[in-house]
Amino acid sequence: MTNKQRRLAGQLSSQTIGETVTLNGWVDVVRDHGQLLFIHLRDHTGIVQVVVDQDNPHYAQSKQLRSEYVIGVTGPVVEREASAKNSDMATGEIEVHITSLIVFNTAETPPFVISEKGTQSVDEDIRLQHRYLDLRRPTMQQRLRQRHRILKTIRDYFDRHDFIEVETPMLTRSTPEGARDYLVPSRVHDGSFYALPQSPQLFKQLLMMSGLGRYMQIARCFRDEDLRPNRQPEFTQLDFEASFIDEAFIMDLINPLMQTLFAEANLPFTQPIRTLTYADAIARYGSDKPDLRFGLEFVDLSPVFGETAYKIFRSILDKGGCIKGIRLPKQSPNLSKSRLQDHYAKTVVPQLGGKGMTWLRVVGDQLESSVLQFFSDTEQATLKTAMAAESDDVIMIIADTDPQVVHDVLGDLRLHVARDLDLIDTTQVIGCWITEFPLFEKRNGQLNLLHHPFTQPTTDITPLTTEAEYLSITARAYDLVINGEEIGGGSIRIHDATIQNKVFDIAGLSDADIHEKFGFFIHALQYGTPPHGGMAVGLDRLVAMLCQTESIRDVIAFPKNRMAVCPLTKAPASVHADQLNELNIQLRG
Ligand code: AMO
Repeated sequence: MTNKQRRLAGQLSSQTIGETVTLNGWVDVVRDHGQLLFIHLRDHTGIVQVVVDQDNPHYAQSKQLRSEYVIGVTGPVVEREASAKNSDMATGEIEVHITSLIVFNTAETPPFVISEKGTQSVDEDIRLQHRYLDLRRPTMQQRLRQRHRILKTIRDYFDRHDFIEVETPMLTRSTPEGARDYLVPSRVHDGSFYALPQSPQLFKQLLMMSGLGRYMQIARCFRDEDLRPNRQPEFTQLDFEASFIDEAFIMDLINPLMQTLFAEANLPFTQPIRTLTYADAIARYGSDKPDLRFGLEFVDLSPVFGETAYKIFRSILDKGGCIKGIRLPKQSPNLSKSRLQDHYAKTVVPQLGGKGMTWLRVVGDQLESSVLQFFSDTEQATLKTAMAAESDDVIMIIADTDPQVVHDVLGDLRLHVARDLDLIDTTQVIGCWITEFPLFEKRNGQLNLLHHPFTQPTTDITPLTTEAEYLSITARAYDLVINGEEIGGGSIRIHDATIQNKVFDIAGLSDADIHEKFGFFIHALQYGTPPHGGMAVGLDRLVAMLCQTESIRDVIAFPKNRMAVCPLTKAPASVHADQLNELNIQLRG
Protein backbone atom coordinates (compact mmCIF):
# COMPACT_ATOMS: atom_id res chain seq x y z
CA MET A 1 0.00 0.00 0.00
CA THR A 2 1.45 3.37 -0.94
CA ASN A 3 0.34 6.70 0.39
CA LYS A 4 -0.74 7.59 -3.14
CA GLN A 5 -3.62 5.14 -2.93
CA ARG A 6 -4.73 6.37 0.45
CA ARG A 7 -8.21 7.84 0.74
CA LEU A 8 -9.60 9.71 3.72
CA ALA A 9 -12.78 8.88 5.58
CA GLY A 10 -14.19 12.31 4.84
CA GLN A 11 -13.80 11.73 1.08
CA LEU A 12 -16.11 8.71 0.99
CA SER A 13 -19.81 8.97 0.24
CA SER A 14 -22.45 7.41 -2.00
CA GLN A 15 -20.45 9.02 -4.88
CA THR A 16 -17.56 6.63 -4.23
CA ILE A 17 -19.62 3.42 -4.23
CA GLY A 18 -17.89 0.79 -6.34
CA GLU A 19 -14.39 2.22 -5.90
CA THR A 20 -11.73 0.19 -4.16
CA VAL A 21 -10.08 2.32 -1.50
CA THR A 22 -7.31 2.16 1.03
CA LEU A 23 -7.89 3.80 4.41
CA ASN A 24 -5.42 4.31 7.26
CA GLY A 25 -6.38 5.32 10.74
CA TRP A 26 -7.41 4.34 14.25
CA VAL A 27 -10.01 1.83 15.39
CA ASP A 28 -12.70 3.99 16.96
CA VAL A 29 -14.81 1.07 18.10
CA VAL A 30 -15.39 -2.59 17.16
CA ARG A 31 -18.87 -4.06 17.29
CA ASP A 32 -18.96 -7.85 17.25
CA HIS A 33 -22.22 -9.23 15.83
CA GLY A 34 -21.06 -12.87 15.82
CA GLN A 35 -20.75 -13.63 12.12
CA LEU A 36 -20.11 -9.98 11.33
CA LEU A 37 -17.61 -7.46 12.71
CA PHE A 38 -18.23 -3.75 12.30
CA ILE A 39 -15.09 -1.68 12.71
CA HIS A 40 -15.33 2.10 12.87
CA LEU A 41 -12.13 3.42 11.36
CA ARG A 42 -11.27 7.01 12.28
CA ASP A 43 -8.88 9.43 10.62
CA HIS A 44 -8.61 13.21 10.93
CA THR A 45 -11.46 13.72 8.48
CA GLY A 46 -14.11 11.42 9.91
CA ILE A 47 -15.21 7.87 10.58
CA VAL A 48 -16.05 5.06 8.13
CA GLN A 49 -17.65 1.72 8.89
CA VAL A 50 -15.58 -1.26 7.80
CA VAL A 51 -17.24 -4.70 7.62
CA VAL A 52 -15.66 -8.14 7.95
CA ASP A 53 -17.76 -11.32 7.79
CA GLN A 54 -16.71 -14.66 9.23
CA ASP A 55 -15.79 -16.10 5.81
CA ASN A 56 -13.33 -13.26 5.23
CA PRO A 57 -9.68 -14.43 5.51
CA HIS A 58 -9.05 -11.38 7.77
CA TYR A 59 -11.87 -12.28 10.18
CA ALA A 60 -9.64 -13.86 12.86
CA GLN A 61 -7.15 -10.99 12.72
CA SER A 62 -9.99 -8.43 12.84
CA LYS A 63 -11.40 -10.06 15.95
CA GLN A 64 -8.17 -9.11 17.77
CA LEU A 65 -8.64 -5.40 17.03
CA ARG A 66 -9.25 -3.04 19.94
CA SER A 67 -9.98 0.66 20.17
CA GLU A 68 -7.06 2.88 19.13
CA TYR A 69 -5.17 0.14 17.23
CA VAL A 70 -3.65 1.71 14.13
CA ILE A 71 -4.74 -0.09 10.98
CA GLY A 72 -4.78 0.08 7.20
CA VAL A 73 -7.62 -1.51 5.22
CA THR A 74 -8.33 -1.91 1.53
CA GLY A 75 -11.62 -2.88 -0.04
CA PRO A 76 -14.57 -1.78 -2.13
CA VAL A 77 -16.97 0.97 -1.03
CA VAL A 78 -20.41 -0.65 -0.83
CA GLU A 79 -23.84 0.88 -0.31
CA ARG A 80 -25.27 -0.12 3.06
CA GLU A 81 -28.52 -2.05 3.28
CA ALA A 82 -31.42 0.39 3.68
CA SER A 83 -32.00 -0.65 7.31
CA ALA A 84 -28.32 -0.10 8.17
CA LYS A 85 -28.08 3.44 6.80
CA ASN A 86 -27.23 6.01 9.45
CA SER A 87 -28.11 9.62 8.73
CA ASP A 88 -26.22 10.80 11.86
CA MET A 89 -22.93 9.74 10.27
CA ALA A 90 -21.40 11.68 7.36
CA THR A 91 -20.49 8.34 5.77
CA GLY A 92 -23.71 6.66 6.97
CA GLU A 93 -24.77 5.61 3.45
CA ILE A 94 -21.78 3.40 2.80
CA GLU A 95 -19.33 0.90 4.27
CA VAL A 96 -16.05 -0.68 3.17
CA HIS A 97 -15.73 -4.45 2.82
CA ILE A 98 -12.22 -5.58 3.71
CA THR A 99 -9.99 -7.33 1.21
CA SER A 100 -6.75 -6.47 3.00
CA LEU A 101 -5.89 -5.55 6.59
CA ILE A 102 -2.63 -4.33 8.11
CA VAL A 103 -2.22 -3.72 11.82
CA PHE A 104 0.40 -0.97 12.07
CA ASN A 105 0.29 -0.84 15.83
CA THR A 106 -1.59 -2.01 18.89
CA ALA A 107 -2.63 0.33 21.73
CA GLU A 108 -3.07 0.19 25.46
CA THR A 109 -6.62 0.72 26.67
CA PRO A 110 -6.93 4.53 26.73
CA PRO A 111 -7.74 6.26 30.05
CA PHE A 112 -10.95 7.58 28.52
CA VAL A 113 -13.09 6.70 25.55
CA ILE A 114 -12.16 8.88 22.61
CA SER A 115 -15.56 10.07 21.55
CA GLU A 116 -17.43 13.34 21.84
CA LYS A 117 -19.95 11.96 24.31
CA GLY A 118 -17.41 9.93 26.23
CA THR A 119 -15.09 12.84 27.02
CA GLN A 120 -17.77 15.22 28.27
CA SER A 121 -17.67 13.75 31.75
CA VAL A 122 -13.88 13.32 31.85
CA ASP A 123 -12.00 15.73 34.11
CA GLU A 124 -10.21 18.34 31.99
CA ASP A 125 -6.87 17.68 33.69
CA ILE A 126 -7.05 14.00 32.66
CA ARG A 127 -7.77 15.09 29.11
CA LEU A 128 -4.89 17.57 29.17
CA GLN A 129 -2.59 14.94 30.65
CA HIS A 130 -3.36 12.73 27.64
CA ARG A 131 -3.86 15.61 25.23
CA TYR A 132 -2.60 13.50 22.26
CA LEU A 133 -5.64 11.25 22.81
CA ASP A 134 -8.02 14.14 23.45
CA LEU A 135 -6.86 15.73 20.19
CA ARG A 136 -7.91 12.58 18.29
CA ARG A 137 -11.54 13.60 18.82
CA PRO A 138 -13.05 14.91 15.57
CA THR A 139 -14.17 18.16 17.26
CA MET A 140 -10.65 18.90 18.44
CA GLN A 141 -9.25 18.07 15.01
CA GLN A 142 -11.79 20.42 13.44
CA ARG A 143 -10.91 23.23 15.85
CA LEU A 144 -7.17 22.97 15.17
CA ARG A 145 -7.86 22.95 11.44
CA GLN A 146 -10.21 25.92 11.76
CA ARG A 147 -7.55 27.76 13.76
CA HIS A 148 -5.05 27.06 10.99
CA ARG A 149 -7.45 28.37 8.34
CA ILE A 150 -8.21 31.51 10.39
CA LEU A 151 -4.48 32.23 10.73
CA LYS A 152 -4.06 31.69 6.99
CA THR A 153 -6.93 34.06 6.17
CA ILE A 154 -5.41 36.66 8.50
CA ARG A 155 -1.89 36.32 7.07
CA ASP A 156 -3.16 36.53 3.48
CA TYR A 157 -5.34 39.54 4.35
CA PHE A 158 -2.47 41.46 5.91
CA ASP A 159 -0.18 40.45 3.07
CA ARG A 160 -2.66 41.92 0.59
CA HIS A 161 -2.57 45.14 2.61
CA ASP A 162 1.23 45.36 2.40
CA PHE A 163 2.00 44.28 5.95
CA ILE A 164 5.04 42.08 6.38
CA GLU A 165 5.43 39.55 9.17
CA VAL A 166 8.51 40.13 11.30
CA GLU A 167 9.50 37.92 14.22
CA THR A 168 10.48 39.87 17.32
CA PRO A 169 12.66 38.45 20.13
CA MET A 170 11.44 36.00 22.74
CA LEU A 171 14.44 36.60 24.98
CA THR A 172 14.18 40.27 25.77
CA ARG A 173 13.73 42.84 28.52
CA SER A 174 10.56 43.43 30.45
CA THR A 175 7.73 44.84 28.26
CA PRO A 176 5.15 47.15 29.76
CA GLU A 177 1.77 45.40 29.67
CA GLY A 178 1.26 45.48 33.41
CA ALA A 179 1.54 41.77 34.25
CA ARG A 180 4.46 39.99 35.92
CA ASP A 181 7.23 38.77 33.64
CA TYR A 182 8.38 35.23 33.08
CA LEU A 183 12.11 35.44 33.64
CA VAL A 184 14.86 33.40 32.02
CA PRO A 185 18.21 33.43 33.82
CA SER A 186 21.32 34.00 31.75
CA ARG A 187 24.13 31.50 32.27
CA VAL A 188 26.71 33.67 30.56
CA HIS A 189 25.82 36.87 32.40
CA ASP A 190 25.75 35.94 36.03
CA GLY A 191 22.77 37.41 37.91
CA SER A 192 21.11 38.73 34.74
CA PHE A 193 17.77 37.68 33.35
CA TYR A 194 15.91 37.87 30.10
CA ALA A 195 12.15 38.40 30.25
CA LEU A 196 9.75 36.65 27.90
CA PRO A 197 7.72 39.30 26.03
CA GLN A 198 4.30 40.25 27.40
CA SER A 199 3.72 41.57 23.88
CA PRO A 200 5.92 42.78 21.00
CA GLN A 201 4.92 46.38 21.83
CA LEU A 202 8.34 48.02 22.01
CA PHE A 203 9.76 46.10 19.06
CA LYS A 204 6.85 46.87 16.77
CA GLN A 205 7.23 50.56 17.57
CA LEU A 206 10.97 50.26 16.92
CA LEU A 207 10.11 48.70 13.55
CA MET A 208 8.08 51.81 12.73
CA MET A 209 11.09 53.91 13.71
CA SER A 210 13.07 51.66 11.35
CA GLY A 211 10.87 52.83 8.48
CA LEU A 212 9.21 49.44 7.96
CA GLY A 213 5.83 51.03 7.29
CA ARG A 214 3.51 48.13 8.06
CA TYR A 215 4.32 45.24 10.37
CA MET A 216 2.28 42.25 11.53
CA GLN A 217 3.01 39.13 13.51
CA ILE A 218 1.16 36.13 14.87
CA ALA A 219 2.99 36.62 18.13
CA ARG A 220 3.32 34.50 21.23
CA CYS A 221 3.00 36.50 24.46
CA PHE A 222 3.75 35.53 28.04
CA ARG A 223 2.13 37.03 31.11
CA ASP A 224 2.40 35.82 34.66
CA GLU A 225 -0.95 37.06 35.93
CA ASP A 226 -3.83 35.70 37.96
CA LEU A 227 -5.56 33.14 35.82
CA ARG A 228 -9.12 33.84 34.74
CA PRO A 229 -11.31 31.77 32.43
CA ASN A 230 -10.17 33.32 29.16
CA ARG A 231 -6.56 33.90 30.05
CA GLN A 232 -3.53 31.73 29.47
CA PRO A 233 -0.01 32.43 30.74
CA GLU A 234 1.14 31.88 27.16
CA PHE A 235 -1.18 33.09 24.43
CA THR A 236 -1.18 34.33 20.86
CA GLN A 237 -1.86 37.78 19.45
CA LEU A 238 -2.47 39.04 15.97
CA ASP A 239 -0.17 42.01 16.48
CA PHE A 240 0.25 44.82 13.97
CA GLU A 241 1.49 48.37 13.62
CA ALA A 242 1.53 50.94 10.79
CA SER A 243 3.01 54.40 10.20
CA PHE A 244 1.28 57.61 9.10
CA ILE A 245 -2.16 56.30 9.99
CA ASP A 246 -5.06 57.18 12.30
CA GLU A 247 -7.87 55.40 14.16
CA ALA A 248 -10.02 55.22 11.01
CA PHE A 249 -7.26 53.27 9.22
CA ILE A 250 -7.24 50.65 11.99
CA MET A 251 -11.02 50.26 12.02
CA ASP A 252 -11.27 50.18 8.23
CA LEU A 253 -8.62 47.46 8.22
CA ILE A 254 -10.12 45.31 10.97
CA ASN A 255 -13.87 45.63 10.26
CA PRO A 256 -13.79 43.81 6.89
CA LEU A 257 -11.40 41.20 8.30
CA MET A 258 -13.83 40.43 11.12
CA GLN A 259 -16.68 40.31 8.64
CA THR A 260 -14.75 37.79 6.50
CA LEU A 261 -13.71 35.63 9.45
CA PHE A 262 -17.22 35.42 10.92
CA ALA A 263 -18.72 34.81 7.47
CA GLU A 264 -16.25 31.96 6.88
CA ALA A 265 -17.37 30.50 10.23
CA ASN A 266 -21.02 30.86 9.13
CA LEU A 267 -21.78 33.20 12.00
CA PRO A 268 -23.98 36.27 11.54
CA PHE A 269 -21.85 39.28 12.37
CA THR A 270 -23.95 42.42 12.75
CA GLN A 271 -22.74 45.21 10.47
CA PRO A 272 -21.65 47.94 10.73
CA ILE A 273 -19.55 47.65 13.89
CA ARG A 274 -20.66 50.45 16.19
CA THR A 275 -18.36 52.88 17.97
CA LEU A 276 -19.09 53.88 21.55
CA THR A 277 -17.02 56.24 23.60
CA TYR A 278 -15.79 54.91 26.92
CA ALA A 279 -17.94 57.47 28.76
CA ASP A 280 -21.01 56.42 26.81
CA ALA A 281 -20.37 52.70 27.37
CA ILE A 282 -20.00 53.21 31.11
CA ALA A 283 -23.04 55.50 31.34
CA ARG A 284 -25.28 53.13 29.35
CA TYR A 285 -23.97 49.65 30.20
CA GLY A 286 -21.70 50.14 33.21
CA SER A 287 -18.86 48.42 31.36
CA ASP A 288 -16.12 49.17 28.83
CA LYS A 289 -16.89 45.79 27.28
CA PRO A 290 -20.65 45.91 26.90
CA ASP A 291 -22.55 42.90 25.61
CA LEU A 292 -24.89 44.44 23.03
CA ARG A 293 -26.81 41.26 22.22
CA PHE A 294 -29.55 42.37 24.60
CA GLY A 295 -31.01 45.67 25.79
CA LEU A 296 -31.47 46.53 29.49
CA GLU A 297 -29.78 49.86 28.88
CA PHE A 298 -29.30 52.11 31.92
CA VAL A 299 -31.62 55.05 32.44
CA ASP A 300 -30.29 57.90 34.56
CA LEU A 301 -32.96 58.48 37.19
CA SER A 302 -31.11 61.16 39.16
CA PRO A 303 -33.13 63.93 37.45
CA VAL A 304 -36.38 62.09 38.30
CA PHE A 305 -35.51 62.21 41.99
CA GLY A 306 -33.81 65.63 41.96
CA GLU A 307 -36.36 67.07 44.40
CA THR A 308 -37.19 63.84 46.22
CA ALA A 309 -38.10 63.65 49.89
CA TYR A 310 -37.30 59.94 49.96
CA LYS A 311 -34.50 59.96 52.52
CA ILE A 312 -32.21 57.32 51.03
CA PHE A 313 -32.22 58.83 47.53
CA ARG A 314 -32.08 62.37 48.95
CA SER A 315 -28.92 61.74 50.92
CA ILE A 316 -27.27 59.86 48.02
CA LEU A 317 -27.92 62.73 45.60
CA ASP A 318 -26.85 65.34 48.18
CA LYS A 319 -23.53 63.56 48.49
CA GLY A 320 -22.90 63.73 44.74
CA GLY A 321 -24.11 60.20 44.03
CA CYS A 322 -26.37 58.93 41.28
CA ILE A 323 -29.43 56.75 40.70
CA LYS A 324 -29.79 54.51 37.65
CA GLY A 325 -32.27 51.88 36.58
CA ILE A 326 -32.85 49.10 34.08
CA ARG A 327 -36.19 47.92 32.75
CA LEU A 328 -36.88 44.22 32.26
CA PRO A 329 -39.64 44.19 29.66
CA LYS A 330 -42.55 41.81 30.41
CA GLN A 331 -40.55 39.95 33.07
CA SER A 332 -42.93 40.55 35.98
CA PRO A 333 -44.64 37.14 35.64
CA ASN A 334 -41.21 35.44 35.69
CA LEU A 335 -39.94 37.20 38.81
CA SER A 336 -41.56 36.36 42.14
CA LYS A 337 -41.32 38.71 45.09
CA SER A 338 -38.85 36.40 46.83
CA ARG A 339 -36.71 36.19 43.67
CA LEU A 340 -36.58 39.99 43.46
CA GLN A 341 -36.20 40.68 47.14
CA ASP A 342 -34.37 37.74 48.69
CA HIS A 343 -32.31 36.70 45.68
CA TYR A 344 -31.45 39.86 43.72
CA ALA A 345 -31.80 42.67 46.31
CA LYS A 346 -30.47 40.80 49.34
CA THR A 347 -28.01 38.30 47.85
CA VAL A 348 -26.83 39.11 44.33
CA VAL A 349 -26.48 42.89 44.63
CA PRO A 350 -24.47 42.78 47.90
CA GLN A 351 -22.23 40.12 46.33
CA LEU A 352 -21.64 42.49 43.41
CA GLY A 353 -20.61 45.22 45.84
CA GLY A 354 -23.88 47.18 46.07
CA LYS A 355 -25.57 48.30 49.25
CA GLY A 356 -29.06 47.49 48.00
CA MET A 357 -31.52 47.49 45.16
CA THR A 358 -34.92 49.12 44.74
CA TRP A 359 -37.35 47.29 42.52
CA LEU A 360 -40.78 48.05 41.14
CA ARG A 361 -43.37 46.23 39.08
CA VAL A 362 -45.56 47.86 36.46
CA VAL A 363 -49.16 46.64 36.78
CA GLY A 364 -51.40 48.17 34.15
CA ASP A 365 -50.47 51.84 34.29
CA GLN A 366 -49.58 51.71 37.97
CA LEU A 367 -46.31 51.08 39.75
CA GLU A 368 -46.08 48.63 42.63
CA SER A 369 -43.30 48.58 45.17
CA SER A 370 -42.72 48.58 48.91
CA VAL A 371 -41.11 52.03 48.58
CA LEU A 372 -43.80 53.54 46.38
CA GLN A 373 -45.32 55.42 49.35
CA PHE A 374 -42.11 57.52 49.47
CA PHE A 375 -42.35 58.66 45.82
CA SER A 376 -44.53 61.66 44.97
CA ASP A 377 -47.12 61.38 42.19
CA THR A 378 -44.90 63.47 39.94
CA GLU A 379 -41.90 61.24 40.66
CA GLN A 380 -43.95 58.14 39.86
CA ALA A 381 -45.12 59.65 36.58
CA THR A 382 -41.69 60.87 35.50
CA LEU A 383 -40.14 57.56 36.54
CA LYS A 384 -42.59 55.68 34.30
CA THR A 385 -41.90 58.02 31.39
CA ALA A 386 -38.13 57.95 31.87
CA MET A 387 -38.15 54.14 31.96
CA ALA A 388 -40.69 53.88 29.09
CA ALA A 389 -42.44 51.48 31.46
CA GLU A 390 -45.21 49.20 30.26
CA SER A 391 -47.44 46.77 32.04
CA ASP A 392 -45.67 43.61 33.31
CA ASP A 393 -42.25 45.26 33.26
CA VAL A 394 -39.91 45.12 36.25
CA ILE A 395 -37.64 48.06 37.09
CA MET A 396 -34.43 47.57 39.04
CA ILE A 397 -32.73 50.62 40.54
CA ILE A 398 -29.27 51.02 42.03
CA ALA A 399 -28.31 54.18 43.89
CA ASP A 400 -25.02 55.02 45.53
CA THR A 401 -23.00 57.99 46.65
CA ASP A 402 -20.22 56.78 44.35
CA PRO A 403 -21.34 56.79 40.68
CA GLN A 404 -18.68 54.19 39.88
CA VAL A 405 -20.36 51.77 42.30
CA VAL A 406 -23.69 52.36 40.54
CA HIS A 407 -22.10 51.62 37.15
CA ASP A 408 -20.16 48.57 38.32
CA VAL A 409 -23.03 47.01 40.24
CA LEU A 410 -25.77 47.76 37.73
CA GLY A 411 -23.44 46.65 34.89
CA ASP A 412 -22.84 43.29 36.53
CA LEU A 413 -26.50 42.97 37.54
CA ARG A 414 -27.53 43.66 33.94
CA LEU A 415 -25.44 40.69 32.78
CA HIS A 416 -26.49 38.49 35.68
CA VAL A 417 -30.21 39.06 35.11
CA ALA A 418 -29.86 38.66 31.31
CA ARG A 419 -28.20 35.26 31.81
CA ASP A 420 -30.72 34.19 34.47
CA LEU A 421 -33.69 35.12 32.31
CA ASP A 422 -32.12 33.84 29.11
CA LEU A 423 -32.33 37.25 27.44
CA ILE A 424 -29.08 36.94 25.45
CA ASP A 425 -29.55 36.04 21.80
CA THR A 426 -26.60 33.67 21.46
CA THR A 427 -27.18 33.24 17.72
CA GLN A 428 -25.97 36.82 17.17
CA VAL A 429 -22.48 38.26 17.05
CA ILE A 430 -22.33 41.96 17.88
CA GLY A 431 -19.11 43.88 18.09
CA CYS A 432 -18.28 47.45 18.97
CA TRP A 433 -15.26 49.71 19.19
CA ILE A 434 -14.75 51.51 22.48
CA THR A 435 -12.85 54.78 22.05
CA GLU A 436 -11.75 57.84 24.02
CA PHE A 437 -10.60 55.95 27.11
CA PRO A 438 -9.28 58.12 29.91
CA LEU A 439 -5.47 58.26 29.73
CA PHE A 440 -5.18 58.04 33.52
CA GLU A 441 -7.29 56.64 36.32
CA LYS A 442 -6.91 57.01 40.04
CA ARG A 443 -6.19 53.73 41.81
CA ASN A 444 -5.37 53.55 45.51
CA GLY A 445 -4.87 57.31 45.58
CA GLN A 446 -2.36 57.20 42.69
CA LEU A 447 -2.55 58.23 39.06
CA ASN A 448 -2.21 55.16 36.88
CA LEU A 449 -2.19 54.68 33.14
CA LEU A 450 -5.21 52.80 31.80
CA HIS A 451 -3.21 51.34 28.90
CA HIS A 452 0.51 50.95 28.34
CA PRO A 453 2.50 54.22 28.50
CA PHE A 454 2.93 54.71 24.73
CA THR A 455 -0.65 55.75 24.01
CA GLN A 456 -1.07 59.25 22.62
CA PRO A 457 -3.31 61.68 24.52
CA THR A 458 -6.11 63.22 22.44
CA THR A 459 -5.02 66.72 23.44
CA ASP A 460 -1.71 68.46 24.04
CA ILE A 461 -0.70 67.65 27.61
CA THR A 462 2.37 69.88 27.72
CA PRO A 463 0.69 72.81 29.51
CA LEU A 464 -1.25 70.64 32.03
CA THR A 465 -0.13 70.59 35.65
CA THR A 466 -2.89 69.44 38.00
CA GLU A 467 -4.25 66.00 38.86
CA ALA A 468 -7.77 67.06 37.85
CA GLU A 469 -6.42 68.10 34.44
CA TYR A 470 -4.57 64.82 34.00
CA LEU A 471 -7.69 62.83 34.92
CA SER A 472 -9.70 64.69 32.30
CA ILE A 473 -7.41 63.70 29.40
CA THR A 474 -8.61 61.02 27.02
CA ALA A 475 -6.38 58.67 25.04
CA ARG A 476 -6.26 57.78 21.35
CA ALA A 477 -6.93 54.18 22.37
CA TYR A 478 -9.52 51.76 21.03
CA ASP A 479 -10.71 48.32 22.08
CA LEU A 480 -12.59 45.85 19.94
CA VAL A 481 -15.31 44.18 22.01
CA ILE A 482 -17.38 41.30 20.67
CA ASN A 483 -20.34 39.82 22.57
CA GLY A 484 -19.13 41.47 25.75
CA GLU A 485 -15.58 40.15 25.51
CA GLU A 486 -12.46 42.22 24.89
CA ILE A 487 -11.06 40.75 21.70
CA GLY A 488 -8.38 43.32 21.05
CA GLY A 489 -7.03 46.75 21.74
CA GLY A 490 -4.51 49.28 20.60
CA SER A 491 -3.77 52.94 20.17
CA ILE A 492 -2.16 55.70 18.20
CA ARG A 493 1.25 56.08 19.85
CA ILE A 494 3.24 58.96 21.17
CA HIS A 495 5.97 59.78 18.65
CA ASP A 496 7.37 62.80 20.46
CA ALA A 497 10.03 62.18 23.11
CA THR A 498 8.98 65.20 25.23
CA ILE A 499 5.39 64.02 25.49
CA GLN A 500 6.54 60.48 26.16
CA ASN A 501 8.68 61.73 29.04
CA LYS A 502 5.81 63.80 30.42
CA VAL A 503 3.46 60.76 30.40
CA PHE A 504 6.07 58.69 32.22
CA ASP A 505 6.50 61.55 34.65
CA ILE A 506 2.75 61.88 35.41
CA ALA A 507 2.53 58.09 35.80
CA GLY A 508 5.07 58.46 38.60
CA LEU A 509 8.12 56.93 36.92
CA SER A 510 11.35 58.52 38.09
CA ASP A 511 14.04 59.48 35.57
CA ALA A 512 16.10 56.56 36.86
CA ASP A 513 13.15 54.16 36.30
CA ILE A 514 12.55 55.49 32.80
CA HIS A 515 16.21 55.23 31.96
CA GLU A 516 16.49 51.70 33.32
CA LYS A 517 13.31 50.32 31.76
CA PHE A 518 12.90 52.23 28.53
CA GLY A 519 16.13 54.18 28.04
CA PHE A 520 16.82 52.52 24.68
CA PHE A 521 13.28 53.27 23.55
CA ILE A 522 13.29 56.96 24.50
CA HIS A 523 16.68 57.24 22.85
CA ALA A 524 15.32 55.70 19.63
CA LEU A 525 12.29 58.06 19.65
CA GLN A 526 14.63 61.00 19.13
CA TYR A 527 15.92 59.92 15.72
CA GLY A 528 12.92 60.78 13.58
CA THR A 529 9.95 58.69 14.69
CA PRO A 530 6.99 58.75 12.30
CA PRO A 531 3.44 59.06 13.63
CA HIS A 532 2.24 55.47 14.07
CA GLY A 533 -0.29 53.23 15.76
CA GLY A 534 -1.47 49.66 15.92
CA MET A 535 -3.34 47.02 17.75
CA ALA A 536 -3.29 43.46 19.05
CA VAL A 537 -6.15 41.00 18.74
CA GLY A 538 -6.27 38.12 21.23
CA LEU A 539 -6.24 35.26 18.72
CA ASP A 540 -7.16 32.50 21.13
CA ARG A 541 -10.27 34.42 22.18
CA LEU A 542 -11.18 35.22 18.60
CA VAL A 543 -10.67 31.62 17.44
CA ALA A 544 -12.71 30.28 20.38
CA MET A 545 -15.53 32.61 19.38
CA LEU A 546 -15.29 31.54 15.73
CA CYS A 547 -15.26 27.87 16.79
CA GLN A 548 -18.21 28.60 19.10
CA THR A 549 -16.56 27.21 22.18
CA GLU A 550 -16.50 28.80 25.62
CA SER A 551 -12.92 28.11 26.59
CA ILE A 552 -9.75 29.27 24.86
CA ARG A 553 -8.18 26.00 26.05
CA ASP A 554 -10.34 24.24 23.44
CA VAL A 555 -8.54 26.00 20.61
CA ILE A 556 -4.96 25.72 21.91
CA ALA A 557 -3.23 22.42 21.14
CA PHE A 558 -1.36 22.15 24.44
CA PRO A 559 -2.80 24.68 26.92
CA LYS A 560 -2.01 25.13 30.58
CA ASN A 561 -4.73 24.31 33.07
CA ARG A 562 -6.35 26.77 35.48
CA MET A 563 -3.33 26.53 37.77
CA ALA A 564 -0.91 27.49 34.94
CA VAL A 565 0.33 23.89 34.87
CA CYS A 566 0.74 21.67 31.82
CA PRO A 567 -0.64 18.32 33.07
CA LEU A 568 1.01 16.52 30.11
CA THR A 569 4.64 17.58 30.62
CA LYS A 570 4.15 18.54 34.28
CA ALA A 571 5.67 21.96 33.61
CA PRO A 572 6.63 23.96 35.60
CA ALA A 573 8.97 21.50 37.31
CA SER A 574 11.98 21.62 39.57
CA VAL A 575 15.35 21.40 37.86
CA HIS A 576 18.50 19.52 38.68
CA ALA A 577 20.90 21.12 41.15
CA ASP A 578 23.63 21.13 38.44
CA GLN A 579 21.49 23.34 36.23
CA LEU A 580 20.92 25.77 39.09
CA ASN A 581 24.62 25.78 39.95
CA GLU A 582 25.48 26.56 36.36
CA LEU A 583 23.13 29.52 36.53
CA ASN A 584 24.52 30.49 39.92
CA ILE A 585 21.03 30.27 41.41
CA GLN A 586 20.45 29.10 44.94
CA LEU A 587 16.94 28.22 46.10
CA ARG A 588 15.81 29.62 49.41
CA GLY A 589 14.66 27.03 51.93
P1 AMO B 1 -3.54 44.01 25.44
O1 AMO B 1 -2.75 43.80 26.67
O2 AMO B 1 -4.86 44.68 25.54
O3 AMO B 1 -2.74 44.90 24.39
O4 AMO B 1 -3.72 42.62 24.70
C1 AMO B 1 -4.40 42.51 23.47
C2 AMO B 1 -5.38 41.35 23.49
O5 AMO B 1 -4.73 40.13 23.86
C3 AMO B 1 -5.65 39.29 24.53
N1 AMO B 1 -5.05 38.85 25.81
C4 AMO B 1 -5.04 37.58 26.26
N2 AMO B 1 -5.53 36.44 25.73
C5 AMO B 1 -5.34 35.29 26.41
N3 AMO B 1 -4.68 35.21 27.59
C6 AMO B 1 -4.16 36.33 28.16
N4 AMO B 1 -3.48 36.23 29.31
C7 AMO B 1 -4.34 37.59 27.50
N5 AMO B 1 -3.98 38.86 27.76
C8 AMO B 1 -4.42 39.61 26.73
C9 AMO B 1 -6.92 40.07 24.74
C10 AMO B 1 -6.47 41.50 24.54
O6 AMO B 1 -7.51 42.32 24.07
N6 AMO B 1 0.57 45.66 23.09
C11 AMO B 1 -0.84 45.90 23.29
C12 AMO B 1 -1.57 46.09 21.98
C13 AMO B 1 -1.29 47.40 21.29
O7 AMO B 1 -1.35 48.46 21.95
O8 AMO B 1 -1.03 47.35 20.07
C14 AMO B 1 -1.43 44.72 24.04
O9 AMO B 1 -0.82 43.70 24.24
O10 AMO B 1 -7.87 39.70 23.75
